Amino acid sequence: MNKDISFGQFFLPGPTEVPLDLFDAMRRPVVGHRSAEVSGVIAGLQGYASHLFQTSRPVYLSTSSATGMMEAAITNLTRKRVLCLSCGSFSHRFYDIAQATGRPADVLEAEWGTPNLPDQLRDALSNAETPYDLVTVVHSESSTGVLNPIRDLAAVVHEFDDVLIAVDTVSSLAGAPVLTDEWKLDFVLTGSQKAMALPPGLAFAVASQRALDRAAEVEHRGFYFDILKFEKNLEKSQTPNTPAVSLIYALERQLQRINDEGLDARWARHQAMADRTYAWVDETAARTGAPYRVLAPDGYRSPCVTVIMLPEDRTGPELTAQAKERGFTIAAGYGRLKEGSFRIGHMGEHTLDELEALLTTLDDLV
Ligand SMILES: Cc1ncc(COP(=O)(O)O)c(C=O)c1O
Repeated sequence: MNKDISFGQFFLPGPTEVPLDLFDAMRRPVVGHRSAEVSGVIAGLQGYASHLFQTSRPVYLSTSSATGMMEAAITNLTRKRVLCLSCGSFSHRFYDIAQATGRPADVLEAEWGTPNLPDQLRDALSNAETPYDLVTVVHSESSTGVLNPIRDLAAVVHEFDDVLIAVDTVSSLAGAPVLTDEWKLDFVLTGSQKAMALPPGLAFAVASQRALDRAAEVEHRGFYFDILKFEKNLEKSQTPNTPAVSLIYALERQLQRINDEGLDARWARHQAMADRTYAWVDETAARTGAPYRVLAPDGYRSPCVTVIMLPEDRTGPELTAQAKERGFTIAAGYGRLKEGSFRIGHMGEHTLDELEALLTTLDDLV
């Protein structure tokens, strides 16, 4: 793998460590975003971007964080009522957005640390008083480390007429298989600062033809995040408004790096780092006799982020502060899990060797 300088010690579950050559790519002069030069870059990277999403559809480039594209999913695709599957803080955000933008919505909550399951979804869609026409779901829930079974959830959605599925792949895309076309996903969104290992500031999304047809029927799609505008502008290899051109230069280079590594190899590297983390948690529990454990159940674990539950006499903020003193950045638990857990983001350009160095350091702290 072509890996440039990396500090190897920054393990947040986003943002992640950015290879330094991407900053070199950003040093190109800023030119007009309607110029042939910028359109050429956007046109040139589309093939790589579509490959990353495993789709034949174009990939929208949004100058926003990923939440912008979450909002786009809600405001463009809810015609009647949206069902928001929630299993942690980030998936719940879809529901918060629906509330904030006045879209009729319900939330179907799985307990934190557990996945959203197909049978529960089928029940909710079958028994709805007002029919739903959109389901939102997160793939990798960064607050719990749970990986939802998107293929199976999408299959349930497709049992119902006129229901679309929008998927947050913010902490999975480029680290775990996301098969947009094969799984028939209608809207797939992600951000730049996670497994894609770019600086924060860009979000990406793919919309199916069904999603575009739906958007055309929705009257108030909003202005900045109108996906029909993204689609139309992309036909000319442009964006609706002034994009973060410098980040697009970095994106061009990073997509080439991801392509050089190969998706299968990239997914395998992430899975290997995740597996090593689970093994370390088990070893730590055995060695210390304390109840360290991975929160997410076997079979539903994100290859990109692991949430590790702590014994009662330890706290997430205390452990992260101690790791910081030794040069390593990890994250405390998120939201209601802040005190009782910590999180390791093993994604982006990290290697097993770098992870091993972190785990060796943590050996002294647990
Ligand atoms: C799964 C997930 N969804 C959404 C978001 C929100 O992304 P952003 O902060 O880029 O808007 C995050 C951020 O950590 C996330 O992990």
